[in-house]
Amino acid sequence: MADDTALRFVQLADPQFGQFARFSGISDTEIEQFQQHKLNVKKAPSIAHFENETKRFTSAIEHAIEINPAFVIVCGDMINTPGAADEVAEVKRIASGLPASIPIFWTPGNHDVCSDTVRPTDESIATYRADFGDDFHSFHHGDSSFIVLNSCVLQRPENVREEFDRQMTFVESTLRSARSRGSKHIVVFTHHPLFLDHAEEPDDDLPFAPSPPNQEPGYWTIPLERRMPLIELFRQYAVEAIFSGHWHRNNYTRDGEMLMISTGAVGYPLGDDPSGYRVVELSDGGVQHSYHPLNV
Ligand SMILES: [Fe+2]
Repeated sequence: MADDTALRFVQLADPQFGQFARFSGISDTEIEQFQQHKLNVKKAPSIAHFENETKRFTSAIEHAIEINPAFVIVCGDMINTPGAADEVAEVKRIASGLPASIPIFWTPGNHDVCSDTVRPTDESIATYRADFGDDFHSFHHGDSSFIVLNSCVLQRPENVREEFDRQMTFVESTLRSARSRGSKHIVVFTHHPLFLDHAEEPDDDLPFAPSPPNQEPGYWTIPLERRMPLIELFRQYAVEAIFSGHWHRNNYTRDGEMLMISTGAVGYPLGDDPSGYRVVELSDGGVQHSYHPLNV
C-alpha cells in the first residue's frame, strides 16, 4: 500500500437516513418476510429519529478526515424517504465537516432519485439535482478519471428515455476523453451493482440475492439488456473497477480484469457485514481496497 504515487479515496454507500426508523416497530410477520428474502432486518422498538444514521455517518466522516483521502465518494441512498428535506439536511450537515481539501461526491441511489424508490422521472431527477448536484458526471484526479452514473436511470428508464440516451452518450464520450488524456486509471461509481456474480448473469434473481418482498426480480442489479452495452464500453476502454452499494453488504466479483465491488452500508446492514466504509488505493500495482467496520 505504501506508494508515493498512489491515490487514495474513501468510498461510502447507503448512509440512508431514516432506514433504522423504517425498520423499527414492524411486525414479526414483516420481519419474517424480509428474512425469507435474505434481508437481515432485526426486531427493534419503534423510533422516529435518525440518531443511528447520524452516529454512523459522523463516524465515517471522522475516519475519512483521519485518512485524508483525495476525495470521498458516496455511492447512493444518502436518504431513505424520497424527498425528505430533514434527511437531506442531516446528510449535508455531517458531510460539511470535511475540510475543503477533501471534496465529497454524491451518486444517486434509488431512494434519492426516485419518488417511488424504483423508477426515476424528470421531476424526481430535478429534485435530486437541486439537493445533490448532477446525477451523472465525471472528475479527474492526477492521472485517474472517475465517472459517476445514475444507475437508477440505467435500471428502470421507462419514464426517462431521453435521460437514458443522454447518459449513454456521456459514458462513451467520457471514456474516450479519459483515454485520450492518458488516464492511467478509470473507475466508475454507481449505486446499483451492474452484476453480483458475473457480467452475463441472467435477470432472474440469483439464489443468494433474492429481490426484497413485493419487488420485481432484478431489484439489485442492472438488466442484461442495458448492462451489456455498458460492460462492452467498459471492456473497450479498460475500466479498472466499478464501485457500488445498494445491496447493503459486501460483494466482490469481476469481469476479466475489471473489478465489480459492492460495498456494505454506512447505515443499516442487510447482510452479515457491519456498517462500514471502504478505503481504496490506485497505484501502478492496480486497485487495492479494504472494508472497515464502524465501531459505533
Ligand atoms: Fe440502500
